[in-house]
Amino acid sequence: MPTQPLRTQVGILGAGPAGLLLAQLLHRAGIDSIVVDQRSREDIEETVKAGIVESPAAEVLATTVSDRVYRDGAKHDGIAFHFDGQAHRFDFQDLVGRSVYLYPQHEVLKDLIAARIDAGVAPLFEHTATSVEDADSDRPRIVGTTADGSGFEIEADVVVGADGSGSIARIPVVGSQQGGFFREYPFAWYGVLVEAPPSSEELIYSRSEEGFVLISSRNREVQRMYFQCDPATDPASVSDDEIWAKLQAGVTTDELKRGPIFRKDVLRFRSFVAHRLRHGRVFLMGDAAHTVPPTGAKGMNLAISDVLWLNRALREFFGSGSETLLESYETDALDRIWKAQHFSYWMTTMLHIAPDASDFDRRRGLGELRLVTGSRAAQEYLAEAYTGWDYGVDGWRD
Ligand code: PHB
Repeated sequence: MPTQPLRTQVGILGAGPAGLLLAQLLHRAGIDSIVVDQRSREDIEETVKAGIVESPAAEVLATTVSDRVYRDGAKHDGIAFHFDGQAHRFDFQDLVGRSVYLYPQHEVLKDLIAARIDAGVAPLFEHTATSVEDADSDRPRIVGTTADGSGFEIEADVVVGADGSGSIARIPVVGSQQGGFFREYPFAWYGVLVEAPPSSEELIYSRSEEGFVLISSRNREVQRMYFQCDPATDPASVSDDEIWAKLQAGVTTDELKRGPIFRKDVLRFRSFVAHRLRHGRVFLMGDAAHTVPPTGAKGMNLAISDVLWLNRALREFFGSGSETLLESYETDALDRIWKAQHFSYWMTTMLHIAPDASDFDRRRGLGELRLVTGSRAAQEYLAEAYTGWDYGVDGWRD
């Protein structure tokens, strides 16, 4: 054990978008924090991740961290649905006057880490937190070990768990790592990273008799594509030829641009919301608080909402000592969390075919897709949710 614990106002578990953005916003208000993460900086910055940034999330990042999302991100004014042999475009600009930005999460993380280093408070990488202690006291502690095996301890006024879906901060908050409202889906995504130019300038979400396909992108040179698979699929068991056949079967019009496949993985689908987001002086946000299936592209965008609510509450707490906003954090954050849960569930169930789907289910599903693409009101509903509801939280611009 170290003789001297580190001392800070806010101890943050997890150098993901949620933890780092909270640290950045608190720093702007003169509040100290320490961010710890078990991964190395290189690992965090180089692991290629998804990245659809909603319009309100782009504004938050550009205002408080870096405008690279606007400069280097690709503005997407719509998406396409392919089904029943036809392509249907949702024109976001026409429908709701908004766009989204294709700006992968690892680029957001590079910006956030650079901002922490500029502020003179680099995250503590390769620090593995093993527990959060004394959640009920006004001096909660993060306890863990460093890469060389020595112990560390951080004593804070408030501890924030932004440590992802395997969060250890859930233990003091809900009693276990699993305690939450939960749904598992009977299908998964088989994902590939391909060295090729984009096959489409906008994302294609497709549903065919074979199930779901998504054509997405990382940049001009690397493309990300997925098809629906059994959750038990071994990524190595599917040949490149089978992969291209599955992907091509999904798109109705375009010939996909092919190239070497350099990553294959299987993503399991779950929806999760922790039973509580706070216990004493310990708070949960981002994936530690909730997980959404990726079909709605909501993960990082939803995490930013939690950050804005908690930032506002912590500014009030450290400014005046009042706990009023800390007390309402859970209720405030949950409003958007459940809306995003619904949207992600809806997109997921609408675009996939469950393994036990009956002929009725398949036909009803096509009816739903025709309804959504055939009605302006329904298209507006989807466009509004996809491009992002306003956060409705103040206190982050200054
Ligand atoms: C991705 O690019 O990985 C991606 C894009 C949109 C989604 C999910 C994943 O809805």
